[in-house]
Amino acid sequence: MRERFRVVGGARLVGEVPVVGAKNSALKLMAVALLAEGRTTLTNMPEIADVRIMAELLRRLGVSVDYDPEAGVAVIDVPASIGHRADYELVRALRASISVLGPLVARVGEADVAVPGGDAIGSRGLDLHAAGLEALGADVRVTHGYLVAKAPRGLRGADIRLDFPSVGATENILMAAVLARGRTTIDNVAREPEIADIAEMLTSMGARITGAGTSCLVVDGVDTLHPTVHRVLPDRVAAGTWAFAAATTCGDIEVVGGVAEHLRSPLQSLAAAGCHVEGTARGFRVAVPEGAGRPTAFDVATLPYPGFPTDLQPFALTYNAVADGSAMVTENLFEARFRTVQELARLGADMQVDGHHVMTHGVPLLSGAPVESSDIRSGAALVIAGLVAEGYTLVSGVHHIDRGYPHFEVGLRSLGADVTREPDEHWYE
Ligand code: UD1
Repeated sequence: MRERFRVVGGARLVGEVPVVGAKNSALKLMAVALLAEGRTTLTNMPEIADVRIMAELLRRLGVSVDYDPEAGVAVIDVPASIGHRADYELVRALRASISVLGPLVARVGEADVAVPGGDAIGSRGLDLHAAGLEALGADVRVTHGYLVAKAPRGLRGADIRLDFPSVGATENILMAAVLARGRTTIDNVAREPEIADIAEMLTSMGARITGAGTSCLVVDGVDTLHPTVHRVLPDRVAAGTWAFAAATTCGDIEVVGGVAEHLRSPLQSLAAAGCHVEGTARGFRVAVPEGAGRPTAFDVATLPYPGFPTDLQPFALTYNAVADGSAMVTENLFEARFRTVQELARLGADMQVDGHHVMTHGVPLLSGAPVESSDIRSGAALVIAGLVAEGYTLVSGVHHIDRGYPHFEVGLRSLGADVTREPDEHWYE
């Protein structure tokens, strides 16, 4: 059944909120587990539908997955022999499924992974993934909608340089290189904390990797890896969401478990805009002192880590929609990632899109209306917009939000917001 959020405007969010394990790490770590025969345990797993889809994908490869969402634990038991096909049905539902590509070629010598279709946030190529695996000696081609990679005699180390620091390509090449013969250097890699998390888990399985978190990874291949127990790192995008929720509603939130260092760019911008940002013993806190007035709008240009994360761009738009003054938001990573703008316009935001820029002019208060979320982040950003809109806002497409924010409304209510989940049925459906 479809659901929507009813968001009552006029909230100032105050209190503390925990951060879950990172979605963008958890899904990849499940793929990492494929590299070793035996039982690997992942803890601090977020309670989201995507983990279930990834679990189903692993099961179809012959792997047993015991996932306890409430405990946040997934036990992945990998047999000696596993399959090599990731079906379109699953890859379409979860684009991150393509992260089984590298592990499967490395472990099985073959991978058939469906090419994901169109994406709500612009086109996202796989050319860098394919080129990296080819450099490692795999034969890669696309047939009948599947990317088929074969390396029957195993992979061999190579010197690879990515044209662009793609997160997914870095991960796939790294996960393949750990079992390749000899040394692989991968230059111009993504430096996201999730990559370091993957490298840490691989190292605990016996992989030999240096340079995680820098722009050059050096991997010395090993023959086999062993299972491990690994704790998923905290979700920096969820933590950043709460930071923006505090700033946008002129509230005061302690993000428990949040890692401020992973959010240096957005937190610096918020501090410069007049928000109080401080590290705490348990995480960090973002507050707008009561009576201080609206914080100021600021320019944002998304960049690969450690730049401003594209996943927080919709929150910067919502923030600027009600901040004091005008600013420019520039999207450099994905095309067409401005769906939030047209919905914010329905709420009375004053912004204009020009190519990959959005010019924003803050208004003191938005005006509640029905809006539609088109992806995880824009959905959550629209809920926050509803909190600073007069009257109430109905945000449909809650299933998108649930993919990144387990029980989002519960967290919001604990901070004083009036947000309820309700059925979203139309007479014409
Ligand atoms: C990951 C994150 C996503 C985040 C993004 C950028 C997951 C599941 N998703 O996505 O939330 O927004 O990083 O921080 O972890 N590109 C190519 N060819 C390639 C690979 C990428 O042209 O072979 C382009 C894409 O079209 C896109 C850009 O590079 O424009 C960034 O993509 P990438 O860094 O690979 O992001 P994802 O791994 O897809």
